[in-house]
Amino acid sequence: MRAPGQLMSSWSALLCALGVLFSLFSFGFAVKENDFKKCHQSGFCKRNRDYADKAVAQGSSWQAPYKILPTEASFKDGLFQATILKTIDEEGTTVELPLTVAFHKSGTARVTVDEKRRQEKNIELRHSSQARKERYNEAEKWAIVGGTTVDVDAKTSYVGETGIKIQYGPDSTFEASINYNPYSIEFKRDGSAQLKLNDRGLMNLEHWRPKVEKPPAPEKKEGEENAEDKKEEPAPEPVGEDESTWWDESFGGNTDSKPRGPESVALDITFFGYEHVYGIPEHAGPLSLKETRGGDGAYTEPYRLYNSDVFEYILDSPMTLYGAIPLMQAHRKDSTVAVFWLNAAETWIDITKAKESKNPLSLGKGPKTNTQTHWISEAGMMDLFVFLGPTPRDVTKAYGELTGTTAMPQEFSIGYHQCRWNYVSDDDVKEVDRKFDRYQIPYDVIWLDIEYTDEKKYFTWDNDMFKDPISMGQQLDAHGRKLVVIIDPHIKNTGSYPVIDELKSNGLAIKNKDGKDFDGWCWPGSSMWVDCFNPAAIEWWKSLFKYDKFKGTMENTWLWNDMNEPSVFNGPEVTMPKDNLHYGSWEHRDVHNINGLTFHNATYQALLSRKKGELRRPFVLTRSFYSGSQRISAMWTGDNQASWEHLGAAIPMILNQGISGFPFAGADVGGFFGNPEAELQSRWYQAGAFYPFFRGHAHIDARRREPYLLAEPYRNIVTSALRLRYSLLPSWYTAFYQAHQDGSPIIRPMYWTHPSNEGGFAIDNQFFVGSTGILVKPVVEQGKTTEDVYIPDDEVYYNYFTYQRLPTAKGQTLTVDAPIESIPMFMRGGHIFPRRDTPRRSAQLMKFDDYTLVVVIGKDGTAEGQLYTDDGDSFDYQKGEYIHRTFKLEGSKLTSTDADGRDPKSIKGGSWLKNMRNVAVDKIVIIGAPTSWADKKEVRLEAGGKQSTVKLEYFKGDASRGPFAIVGRVGASIGADWAIEFA
Ligand code: NOJ
Repeated sequence: MRAPGQLMSSWSALLCALGVLFSLFSFGFAVKENDFKKCHQSGFCKRNRDYADKAVAQGSSWQAPYKILPTEASFKDGLFQATILKTIDEEGTTVELPLTVAFHKSGTARVTVDEKRRQEKNIELRHSSQARKERYNEAEKWAIVGGTTVDVDAKTSYVGETGIKIQYGPDSTFEASINYNPYSIEFKRDGSAQLKLNDRGLMNLEHWRPKVEKPPAPEKKEGEENAEDKKEEPAPEPVGEDESTWWDESFGGNTDSKPRGPESVALDITFFGYEHVYGIPEHAGPLSLKETRGGDGAYTEPYRLYNSDVFEYILDSPMTLYGAIPLMQAHRKDSTVAVFWLNAAETWIDITKAKESKNPLSLGKGPKTNTQTHWISEAGMMDLFVFLGPTPRDVTKAYGELTGTTAMPQEFSIGYHQCRWNYVSDDDVKEVDRKFDRYQIPYDVIWLDIEYTDEKKYFTWDNDMFKDPISMGQQLDAHGRKLVVIIDPHIKNTGSYPVIDELKSNGLAIKNKDGKDFDGWCWPGSSMWVDCFNPAAIEWWKSLFKYDKFKGTMENTWLWNDMNEPSVFNGPEVTMPKDNLHYGSWEHRDVHNINGLTFHNATYQALLSRKKGELRRPFVLTRSFYSGSQRISAMWTGDNQASWEHLGAAIPMILNQGISGFPFAGADVGGFFGNPEAELQSRWYQAGAFYPFFRGHAHIDARRREPYLLAEPYRNIVTSALRLRYSLLPSWYTAFYQAHQDGSPIIRPMYWTHPSNEGGFAIDNQFFVGSTGILVKPVVEQGKTTEDVYIPDDEVYYNYFTYQRLPTAKGQTLTVDAPIESIPMFMRGGHIFPRRDTPRRSAQLMKFDDYTLVVVIGKDGTAEGQLYTDDGDSFDYQKGEYIHRTFKLEGSKLTSTDADGRDPKSIKGGSWLKNMRNVAVDKIVIIGAPTSWADKKEVRLEAGGKQSTVKLEYFKGDASRGPFAIVGRVGASIGADWAIEFA
């Protein structure tokens, strides 16, 4: 969203400000779609789509011009190396493209293709550019952290003139079959083809060529200007290739000088027999990605990845948004495979689904669907990873090994966050804090948007409105609460501001194409951008956050990084010119999608070093992200709207983040733009209570809407949703831990939890919370009092609140009551999950509360679950200071044991662990307790080598409640082994 900045000295700035003002007042709630390119306006996208059309039109006579000479190929120690020759003219002239296929111990395979001539820097740059000559090859520095140890045991099963077959992966069940002419690679698992690179021969790597100046076109005489428009005579066919977008390209009044000429990389990838593909966030559309070129309900544009400040974004669209994760998973019954396209430049992805012609022998079975994808990036080398599954869990795990898993969060950060643009003063913040308490509504964090600063100069405070930030921070701290302040990457270009002086004098700003500090327009008016690709910039950035430098901040102050796509109001597509230069002389074009990550990384590093000797987990929220961002931040889905449609759209978006390795995700609860009516706001809190990142936020023009302002019954409804979230914090924290361990999503879609159940593959409006077995289907439609919920298996399911059992309905959709005061929420049999049932003001104040365990007995009479907890703040968990329990109900015995097999007595630790010794399992609720327990009054507990009895109460159920049992006042220490015998 734009707001008027300050007047600047130059006319251009004034015009820009007027444009900004105009856009502010001219908005209806619709994205300015025309501010952003369509494929045909992005030269390389159009060229590659045209290339694909040409290939498809030629059918089987299409000859892909890429081949490998067998004599030049070698395979040794898990690495296949060759040169791909690209034939570039009728005479057979070729260019050399070095290829490496690496087979990793982790089971992934990596395929990289570069261009020899650019590798050797043997090209000429135009316009005296200072840019690097190579294709960008440093994306891995930012995205990859492991999983690339080469598997020296990978072996060939065939070597011949036409190609080579390499077996690798678990028990050598994976195979890469590299075909030499035309070049393609087919990947198999257990002998069956899963996916193929260059299957349709659409691979295209635009090689370097010098610009051949053509004689200028004859000048038009007066009156001839619109000659083309008259279309009386067709224009003559241009000779040779269409170079119109090779050497420079204009859009929206900005011209990209493209000093290296055309250099796109494109490849088609076919997934055999796969009807569903998921991933490649960030887009506002369904989880199961749509076709982009024909087909029912298809989009007409490819999915685009070019991180952008797309305010008021449209829904059900392949349009780019703020972040990019180029990971795509393909799924069919019992099989998942994936591709990770490691490229940081503007990228477009076309998806089509092709039915194979029906095999007359496949009696009754429908024809197979292949999903065909076409990946097109503007620059960089071709670099991709192939995952062969076979389960969704295998893929997310392997991707987690590669790019890292979500960080263990600050415990407070999984509580509720209260934000708006803006809380206007320190008194305002204190008052909001008091009101939450007065109405007994829990929250953990209050946020300050850009207006807290002195004229948008970050690291300063507006001295009139925020006279005493420390006393504000202290009031919050008294109840264990935190403050998050925003710091954006644009630095106000103005006098008497040390931050800009230091940025300039240290040479740490992003440069324009001429090597001068780039100056653009953002919130503060004229601004410069810190170049966080530069290690020196990170060091400098760190210095700005020290408590004694950024005065007014304290131990409970944390950070929000916004506008880091980067958003540049007067730049092409609201971002930076592509020919801007970064550290290492890389063009912005090369690194654009990683830019946001480098910024929030610098902030993360800064938070690690605010004070000597203080080492705590940073909390940073980012708007822009790339693969790897999950290791160091949380994200939210940007500027949504207070509409029912946006409430609905947020769920597939957050699910998509989860399966794409970045599960610490949320959407602005209540909607950023506009004013939600009470029903919408209530439903949004009910849904938001299940976002891994749970924050209410509102635009500066939106009315105040802190939950306590709602009239009854809505205030109570929202308070209940918040308390529900808080009671389940132990389960959420455990789900974060699991995500941290193996990359698993925190909220999980049906295909991920039930990969065999085809009915669930397209469902993206309900989910499970971690491994708790809690199934949620938020209501996202106005006036609804019932909700349809899909049951993915034949386990028993119970209503979360009434314990009533749902009818068995595997693969069916059940209609359940969902009046405004209730959330459709169910418990799947077979799970045990932890809760803390005493409502308090903040997560911090619940830290040493006793636990409740909920045991939901499964069809077979068993149940199992976990609890993970640690101090929620330091890195001591890495030294073993944590509690990780497995709870199991088997036969008539419920046990708690260390999930990692440690002897609890051997675990040494500091004050947190000591305090936890006094934290107990207080209550155990057993859902689906057998009627044979009806007469039981007590059960036997064995804890710490001692036997005792504890009370059991059995409720046989009535019209409003299902049967259950409660074991009360158990008293066993949460970290200790114990067992309860029910027999
Ligand atoms: C844009 C962000 O998306 C929004 O959340 C924020 O309030 C504004 N910038 C102002 O900082």
